[in-house]
Amino acid sequence: MPSAAATKVTAVPNDLEAYWLPFTPNRAFKASPRLIARAKDMYYYTPDGRAVLDGTAGLWCTNAGHNRDSIVAAIRTQAETLDYAPAFQFSHPKAFELASRVAVLAPGDLDHVFFCNSGSEAVDTALKIALAFHNVRGEGTRTRLIGRERGYHGVGFGGISVGGIVNNRKFFGSLLAGVDHLPATYSREHQAFSKGEPEWGAHLADDLERIVALHDASTIAAVIVEPMAGSTGVLPAPKGYLQRLRALCDRHGILLILDEVITGFGRLGYSFAAERYGIVPDMITFAKGITSGTVPMGGVIVRKGVYDAFMRGPEHMVELFHGYTYSAHPLACAAGLAALDLYRDEALFERARKLEPYWADAAMRLKGLPNVLDIRCVGLTAGIDLASRPDAVGRRAYEAMEHAFRSENLVIRINAETIAITPPLIVTESEIDQIFAKVANAIRAVA
Ligand SMILES: Cc1ncc(COP(=O)(O)O)c(C=O)c1O
Repeated sequence: MPSAAATKVTAVPNDLEAYWLPFTPNRAFKASPRLIARAKDMYYYTPDGRAVLDGTAGLWCTNAGHNRDSIVAAIRTQAETLDYAPAFQFSHPKAFELASRVAVLAPGDLDHVFFCNSGSEAVDTALKIALAFHNVRGEGTRTRLIGRERGYHGVGFGGISVGGIVNNRKFFGSLLAGVDHLPATYSREHQAFSKGEPEWGAHLADDLERIVALHDASTIAAVIVEPMAGSTGVLPAPKGYLQRLRALCDRHGILLILDEVITGFGRLGYSFAAERYGIVPDMITFAKGITSGTVPMGGVIVRKGVYDAFMRGPEHMVELFHGYTYSAHPLACAAGLAALDLYRDEALFERARKLEPYWADAAMRLKGLPNVLDIRCVGLTAGIDLASRPDAVGRRAYEAMEHAFRSENLVIRINAETIAITPPLIVTESEIDQIFAKVANAIRAVA
């Protein structure tokens, strides 16, 4: 339960106009704002001190729970010690320490880490590394990038080009040239109410053969997919799908990039989902959970062979013309190291794995509620599809989110007509029961 000390009142802004909120209906928000002033562990607190259960780990990022003392202390100490060091031509010790710690968590020979500041930057970085990798190896014809329908890879031009969400693409011109897409892995007809990875759908990976036949492998640089498509509604990979995609990429000399911005750092019960599926991709993108959401950070983990391909030519020359002012920012590195310590000391990834059956049972009990068309879950994630109101796609889920926040004291995430629940990994069985009871109430309230 929330402690009394955590309910201190914080000032409410008197003008909401200047701030343009991202991925938010601004006019509706400003007419009826949902403000959060403080947080601790599993709870948010509104400016008037109301405790609200976090059903979404922020935006799938605060995996260790909110305002954990050791992470807060690490950030504070770092700010007092070294606020910033140039990221180009200079560095600082914690950047190397964090890279080593991340590399150890990754499977196989994924042993080098390039840091950036977000998932979007991680995706653009990985796509650029893929193109440059083929270039430096003398296979510069490999320029095509293959994404997937219903994929989300952030909002950079690279990410929206390989992504498969129409609203994220259609307003922004012609995007990157030479991109193709695999089909989405979701079929309600074949997969409805599956717990974990659905039985149906591994064969959809074979569509890569069609794309290869159309463009020729010699023009394709990389395939990028999420192990579980989060932002389009929690779409777990079908059984065997990722293994098949790995084999096909190997056959055709195509790099496989797993976008683990959501699935990294315990969400599916492992350091990375690659381990859950027993595959070694050529690159893993990460962000969010690396600092448990406390300081912006992202990165790309690359296999030894990819890194080594760049380590040639005169030693005083830059090998990869890419980087960010805030790559491996000292505050982010300090937060990352403290977050990794917490994950290890509290065995939070294993905790997620152990809780998964309980979580899945609790999620599936919502089957049969009014307008529930499908429920999907994998790791500590659940997606619940609702039927749309006539001529108002997304309205029912929006009302459910409003009801959950204002009347059930629960934060949920919505995407179109899907409710997504993805709590911090410190969630208890009793909090899981509370979360799904509150979600059930919200679904009934918008029947
Ligand atoms: C799979 C995936 N890739 C990339 C991103 C983009 O991350 P960011 O919002 O940090 O740029 C997200 C964000 O949710 C994501 O889920």
